[in-house]
Amino acid sequence: MTTRYRVEYALKTHRRDQLIEWIKGLLAVPFVLHSQPTAVYDSGSRSDVLEKMASTAHRRYAEILHDVEELINDHIAHQKSGTHQRSKLKHLVPSVGVFFTPLLLAKAFEYQDQRRRISSRRFVPPSFNDIRLTLNSAQIMSLVQGGPLELVTFDGDVTLYDDGLSLVPENPVIPRIISLLSRGIKVGIVTAAGYTEASRYYDRLYGLLSSVRDAVINRELVSPDLIILGGESNYLFKFKLSSEYWLEYIPRRDWMLPEMAEWADEDIKILLDSAEKALTECISNMKLSAQILRKERAVGIIPVPSGHKFTREQLEETVLVTQQQVEMSPAAKRLPFCAFNGGSDIFVDIGDKGWGVLACQRYLGGIGRNKTLHVGDQFLSAGANDFKARLACTTAWIASPAETVQLLDELAAHSLSQS
Ligand code: IMP
Ligand code: MG
Repeated sequence: MTTRYRVEYALKTHRRDQLIEWIKGLLAVPFVLHSQPTAVYDSGSRSDVLEKMASTAHRRYAEILHDVEELINDHIAHQKSGTHQRSKLKHLVPSVGVFFTPLLLAKAFEYQDQRRRISSRRFVPPSFNDIRLTLNSAQIMSLVQGGPLELVTFDGDVTLYDDGLSLVPENPVIPRIISLLSRGIKVGIVTAAGYTEASRYYDRLYGLLSSVRDAVINRELVSPDLIILGGESNYLFKFKLSSEYWLEYIPRRDWMLPEMAEWADEDIKILLDSAEKALTECISNMKLSAQILRKERAVGIIPVPSGHKFTREQLEETVLVTQQQVEMSPAAKRLPFCAFNGGSDIFVDIGDKGWGVLACQRYLGGIGRNKTLHVGDQFLSAGANDFKARLACTTAWIASPAETVQLLDELAAHSLSQS
């Protein structure tokens, strides 16, 4: 394998989303042809030039997104006949998976262009973030149009609160989640944070739990469906007013999927042992100031002393080495697992958020994949733990808790205009 191959493919592809990169490439053409980086030298009316540029670029970008929307519709038609491996989109973007709804990309572009003024830019072409947010808007518009949306699941760290922090009462996401619950939409928090005790989830989520409790007492909410699925797909708790910390532990037998019953304890031990070995080697090889944390269904490394920060490179190297070594374990053939970079730590969990979201859908009465939205921050294909949720439902990829708030406001606005 040549060095160039390794750099371009082996090491970089997991850090790029191929669908987004492909769309970015398509939009680069009208940007190159129509942007006016030289407008400053023109003697005529600069504002006229720029206005014309923006309207031409807007039209061309919108046309391209309309064409991509059609390709996705064609892919969905192929999915229905079981031939999506042969769709044109699959040829163009081989990593593309399954779409549970169409994506209203042209309409979403109109919406995001109003806000981000993508077409008015002369030097900065449509970016990863422009396209990521356009895809999010398109997903939300499609869910509202094809409604009703029945379940929203949220990742925890970075999606609801900053990395490693807690959901405090002042967090602006709280009234938005209460608004979802009041509209009859069920809410799940599907987090890697894996604890067996309600008190630990209370520590992380007390702002939300106490606000939901107040809303129930004030009769603003009537029996809201709020659940927490921790350890990716391992521990289920349900909001209940009469329970300590307002969380009731639901035994695994009451919610797990039939396939999960086949995850043997012996395999779990073998898999976690191999992960622990890989992590221990990384600590030794890179001389990391780290400590192993072994749990019933997870193993990870955390920095010591606790404020210490691993570098991005150390985190990435550790997660990629560990993923590769665990994949070689015979238990990995029988058990799903998720190795991910938590930003300040690395964990390997048994199961993944795909299973987590499927379990929530089942526990909440059999909600469809096309009626569920998972909101998370980790959608790269390696070392990221929200990625697997794409197998279970539609998704929105946010980059900060503030973006989650914006997304929920967008959802509320579209729902209102639809009704
Ligand atoms: P998420 O972003 O909500 O999925 O949370 C991920 C973070 O949860 C990790 O980065 C860890 O800091 C923390 N965490 C606590 N316990 C566990 C565990 O058992 N497995 C994985 N992550 C854990
Ligand atoms: Mg996260």
